[in-house]
Amino acid sequence: MGPSRFLGVAISLVALLAAASAGAAPPHPWMNPRLAPARRAELALKAMTEAEKLTLVSGYFATPAPFQHDYQPPPQVRLNSAGYVPGIPRLGIPPQWQTDAGIGVATQRSKTPRERTALPSGLATAATWDPKLAEAGGAMIGAEARASGFNVMLAGGVNLAREARNGRNFEYAGEDPLLAGRIVGAEIKGIQANHIISTIKHFALNDQETNRTTVSVTLADDQARMSDLLAFQIAIEVGDPGSVMCSYNRIGGVYACENDHLLNQVLKRGWGYRGYVMSDWGAVHSTVDAANHGLDQQSAASFDDQPYFREPLRQALAAGTVPRARLDDMARRILWALFAKGVIDHPVADQPQPIDFPRHEAVSRADAEGAIVLLKNTGGVLPLAATARRIAIIGGHADVGVLSGGGSSQVYPRGGAALTTGPDFFPGPELYYPSSPLKALQAELPQAKITYLDGRDTDAAARLAAESDLVVVFATQWSAEAFDPAFVLRSGQDALIAAVAKANPRTVVVLETGNAVAMPWLDQVPAVLEAWFPGARGGEAIARVLSGAVNPSGHLPVTFPRSEDQMPHKVVERGAEVTYSEGAAAGYKWFDKTGQAPLFAFGHGLSYSSFQTHSLRAAGGDALRISFTVRNTGRVRGKTVAQVYVSPRAGGWEAPRRLAGFRKLDLAPGAVATVSLSVDPRLLATYDGAAGCWKIVTGTYEVQLGDSAQDIQARTTVRLRAHILPGGRSG
Ligand code: BGC
Repeated sequence: MGPSRFLGVAISLVALLAAASAGAAPPHPWMNPRLAPARRAELALKAMTEAEKLTLVSGYFATPAPFQHDYQPPPQVRLNSAGYVPGIPRLGIPPQWQTDAGIGVATQRSKTPRERTALPSGLATAATWDPKLAEAGGAMIGAEARASGFNVMLAGGVNLAREARNGRNFEYAGEDPLLAGRIVGAEIKGIQANHIISTIKHFALNDQETNRTTVSVTLADDQARMSDLLAFQIAIEVGDPGSVMCSYNRIGGVYACENDHLLNQVLKRGWGYRGYVMSDWGAVHSTVDAANHGLDQQSAASFDDQPYFREPLRQALAAGTVPRARLDDMARRILWALFAKGVIDHPVADQPQPIDFPRHEAVSRADAEGAIVLLKNTGGVLPLAATARRIAIIGGHADVGVLSGGGSSQVYPRGGAALTTGPDFFPGPELYYPSSPLKALQAELPQAKITYLDGRDTDAAARLAAESDLVVVFATQWSAEAFDPAFVLRSGQDALIAAVAKANPRTVVVLETGNAVAMPWLDQVPAVLEAWFPGARGGEAIARVLSGAVNPSGHLPVTFPRSEDQMPHKVVERGAEVTYSEGAAAGYKWFDKTGQAPLFAFGHGLSYSSFQTHSLRAAGGDALRISFTVRNTGRVRGKTVAQVYVSPRAGGWEAPRRLAGFRKLDLAPGAVATVSLSVDPRLLATYDGAAGCWKIVTGTYEVQLGDSAQDIQARTTVRLRAHILPGGRSG
């Protein structure tokens, strides 16, 4: 039992004793924190009327919505947030106050947003390959949620980036199930350490925004289990979220929120999930099917055609088309999560609590500094030489701030946005956080004369570039919920970069994007940094990487293709149905399988230092254990990501190799680390849908240690014995 848990128990015991000695009515038995959450949920459930159970399973939008027949939320909501589910005061069950989520405490579109700390995008956090940073980020945003009176965070986005242009990839954690699952699981763990619930979302296969509310996705179940579903499964095991949010799309023609296979068979029976399934906002289409097929709570009912889980559910119970035991199961799951995650024992305050913004912004900056990927660096152009006198900064609004991703996850910064442009309606605005790379660089390099131009006049930019010792061009590509942005940089930025690089070959490009983008000018520039959407202190993080105060250590969590022709789907699918014919071979697996060389491979990332790996060893048999050593052979301290891939000699997987393990290491010059790790057996198996289990095949497997999926430094082989794993949890 950790110290904070102990304190919680002690406080509750004191309350129990005080109530007894004051002669007050004894507290409800389910308020006893010494009982197991399942027991407490059962006791509370027994005391509930049917109307009270129905209260728990249906939510309200918490923002006035002129577009929903002038909808006005109930007065008890935390205004301008995502949702509210009334409590049951008679029984001591608190309301559920829900907010988005993944990068911080968001506000729905409003004139008076809550000002909170934004982490870098989820994809950026995945680029750290550092679950500890992800957990620290989760702990930070969970603390702000609690301080803001929220006890349910709609976080934990883990949809795989199988569609490289998906507008919400920035909210997720990349294309590999192991990396995405570990990072998102760690974030959820951090959030829930604040005694609040986090969701995991959007379950499942909501991998593109185009037609997201109607599209029907086809992906064979065994392939889904080895890709998108595996990311969810791993993240659920690591983070144990109180709730799972089912998605908008259909799977095999059936909406995710009424999909018996997905919710009942896979999640609840197969994986033994104990929490509750809540719908995405506007993702419910029925009462009986949704209830019987696994949905436990209808979110923000005004988004759906009907309040399916209110009067219609009451009628369905009366008619017997939804069994009463099913309503009990819904309420029990919600109660279990409220007890198990500490929401009931640690109530959130009604009034906003103080927030330590400087400390939280330091967490965000550390995340960004670990996330920025140095994609290219030839001729030692970076870090910026202390001798550079005249530096030109061009474009990307780098004079005022850094770009953020749009939609429901939008966090509004302290002191207001540096700039808002773009649509004046959802998912807008396009918002820049007030963290200027220009000003931060001026502070880092006080001896240099740094001049800024916005880049709208290409000739003027080229003239300034020609007169400068070095140029840094910033390019931005906005991503947001509800649309899929282009793969090509917008608004003539490619032409600007090419013109500037022609005028001065010492041109560094900094990208602020939510996805991979095309780089037709790549051969013309010596250095490129991918800074993603770098969060509240992103400008400082970029400047510190450029100056060398921070040694870059981010690695790509997604493949950067050369062109759209290399992708499994040349264009984003616009039809009513999408067939993911690439199966489980998403991302780098697709590139490996089709023998294509991408522009930058999954896992790629440079450093100002250099590293060497030695002594790769692998022990096989019934389990795979790997050990190796890594040495920092450079002159500066730095972090590297050791990546272990496994490839069966006989083939038989969806693609030639899979990421099987990774470790981020921080090494002083000359220092050596010895790493040993054991491989999750599911990553050595294929899923057999008919038998409902994972199967490892006897044979020889190559273990590869790499700097990326395409840059393998060391190999060894090992024999594995045939092995069957249950379809649910590993081990
Ligand atoms: C999004 C969810 C979000 C919800 C509430 C939906 O549009 O898809 O991710 O949690 O809105 O804001």
